Amino acid sequence: MEANKRLAWAWLLLATLAMVHHVSATDHIVGGNRGWNQGINYTDWVNSQTFVLLDWISFRYQKDQHNVVQVNQSGYDNCTLDNAFGNWSSGKDFFFLNESKRYYYIDGRGGCYGGMKITFLVKSPAPPPHHSVAQNTTAKSGGSDPGCELRPVGFTVSALLMLAGALFGF
Ligand SMILES: *[C@@H]1O[C@H](CO)[C@@H](O)[C@H](O)[C@H]1NC(C)=O
Ligand SMILES: *[C@@H]1O[C@H](CO)[C@@H](O)[C@H](O)[C@H]1NC(C)=O
Ligand SMILES: *[C@@H]1O[C@H](CO)[C@@H](O)[C@H](O)[C@H]1NC(C)=O
Ligand SMILES: *[C@@H]1O[C@H](CO)[C@@H](O)[C@H](O)[C@H]1NC(C)=O
Ligand SMILES: *[C@@H]1O[C@H](CO)[C@@H](O)[C@H](O)[C@H]1NC(C)=O
Ligand SMILES: *[C@@H]1O[C@H](CO)[C@@H](O)[C@H](O)[C@H]1NC(C)=O
Repeated sequence: MEANKRLAWAWLLLATLAMVHHVSATDHIVGGNRGWNQGINYTDWVNSQTFVLLDWISFRYQKDQHNVVQVNQSGYDNCTLDNAFGNWSSGKDFFFLNESKRYYYIDGRGGCYGGMKITFLVKSPAPPPHHSVAQNTTAKSGGSDPGCELRPVGFTVSALLMLAGALFGF
């Protein structure tokens, strides 16, 4: 009996953790640990990712060699900066994927011609399974501070771990 109860709690904990994980946004680091550089097949990298609304994408690079320019399809196809939405050059740039659309980024310092360009489609997430609490709230678009997004998740996880610790004594 006692064992059954513990098992039930463990399942509940696992299910909740899985849910929390699902809800938290992903930061897609361009090129993984190779970053934003020459000689990387970014088509392969994009194909290895699933971009979901409210995810982040981040570029890490040598700021004296490369930058990041957001363009439209013409800019992407031709490596031109004329129609750029903006350019960034901090060496570590984060973008919040707050629209379900196709995004285009290129290197504005020549790397584009060598393949430093990426394009990907951001999909809407699957609708949440519980429609019952469908209140008429306009979707929160999230602040500009990435930390804001993650703090509640971190809090929930640590609260759960404390609960687990209290229950199971670890
Ligand atoms: C990247 O790799 C794919 C196969 O995985 C290939 O079709 C494509 O031509 C490559 N792109 C470049 C720019 O080399
Ligand atoms: C890109 O933007 C330019 C200028 O706004 C526009 O002329 C061009 O048609 C756009 N290309 C695409 C594919 O949307
Ligand atoms: C860019 O490439 C597109 C094809 O994707 C072409 O239709 C367009 O005319 C080109 N634009 C410029 C400014 O070269
Ligand atoms: C980058 O943006 C700055 C200001 O936002 C602008 O002055 C500059 O011309 C841009 N550079 C390129 C290459 O688009
Ligand atoms: C998404 O973010 C960009 C840049 O912060 C902003 O200009 C745009 O209005 C936002 N779009 C939506 C749908 O919130
Ligand atoms: C939600 O409320 C807004 C105004 O508060 C209204 O314009 C909109 O039609 C409502 N949407 C639904 C689905 O009820």
